[in-house]
Amino acid sequence: MGENILVIEREPVVRSTVVRLLAREGFAVHAAADAAEALLVCRGVRDLAVVIGDAQMTAPTYHQLKTAYPHVRTVAILPEGEADQTVGEARRMGLDDCLVRPFDMDELVATIGRLLLTLKAERERGVLLERLRKNVVKMVDSLAQALEARDPYTHGHSLRVAELSLMIASELGLTDFQLAVLEHGAALHDIGKIAVRQEVLHKPSHLTEEEFEHIKIHPVVGREILEPIEDFRDMLDLVYYHHERIDGKGYPEGLKGEQIPVMAQIVAVADTYDAMTSDRPYRRGMPSERALLIMKEVAGTQLNAAFVDILARKVRAQEAAQTAG
Ligand SMILES: [Fe+2]
Repeated sequence: MGENILVIEREPVVRSTVVRLLAREGFAVHAAADAAEALLVCRGVRDLAVVIGDAQMTAPTYHQLKTAYPHVRTVAILPEGEADQTVGEARRMGLDDCLVRPFDMDELVATIGRLLLTLKAERERGVLLERLRKNVVKMVDSLAQALEARDPYTHGHSLRVAELSLMIASELGLTDFQLAVLEHGAALHDIGKIAVRQEVLHKPSHLTEEEFEHIKIHPVVGREILEPIEDFRDMLDLVYYHHERIDGKGYPEGLKGEQIPVMAQIVAVADTYDAMTSDRPYRRGMPSERALLIMKEVAGTQLNAAFVDILARKVRAQEAAQTAG
């Protein structure tokens, strides 16, 4: 069966003629007399490709159909003689193409054909993007696992940092794309530790100056690992700057305050909290309340104060809900 086409036409004779001729072209044609009927008719249709109808009537129907069929295309039928001014209006209403009455079927079929080509390209792009997205998620997973295989004591740390980062970001009005970058980037923030010497990585006592200098390479190495992969480009700042401090005493660049990318500031807060509250073989993690109080003391110097506040509020609310439950 061909692509699903919806014809909205008040005039029964015109409607049935258009339906018959389009069906003859191999399309699966659905028909409705007005907008309300169009929405009903479409209920059982899995994928709608094109809507054809009077511009005034088609525009609102089209916008409602767009939710169910994100790729749907529209052809507005315009009254004779008003073509110039109505074409502009139809475009402003977000419709894809127009035909002016009277039009012949060849014109209509050619218009539908053009729209179907753009639709096909868009669907293919969608499939490709989805495949790419899945690959990125898989790569993030295996890289994070590679790091945890070297340092089992940080097991789950990266994923918890990703979760905590999203918790903070939930109040910042980020776009879906920015949230995805934050989530994947946070899961990989310490990936450069792959290059840190094992004995330094697992050292239970304080690090010597040399060892601390050595561990400081991990944001730099992290960025180098991810840089060649195009899909990871947006995460580079987050990985590179997650040890910067608001007062400029962090590393690797010693950036200050707003110079530090926002996502890196979010991850720094999440990272600090998880590092303090999670268990290590040589010490127990501290209770969340104590960690939050210590973080409050360094808010504004080491960490972004607003993000520390958001995290504290969220963690306390979560714990209160758990206690109540
Ligand atoms: Fe780190």
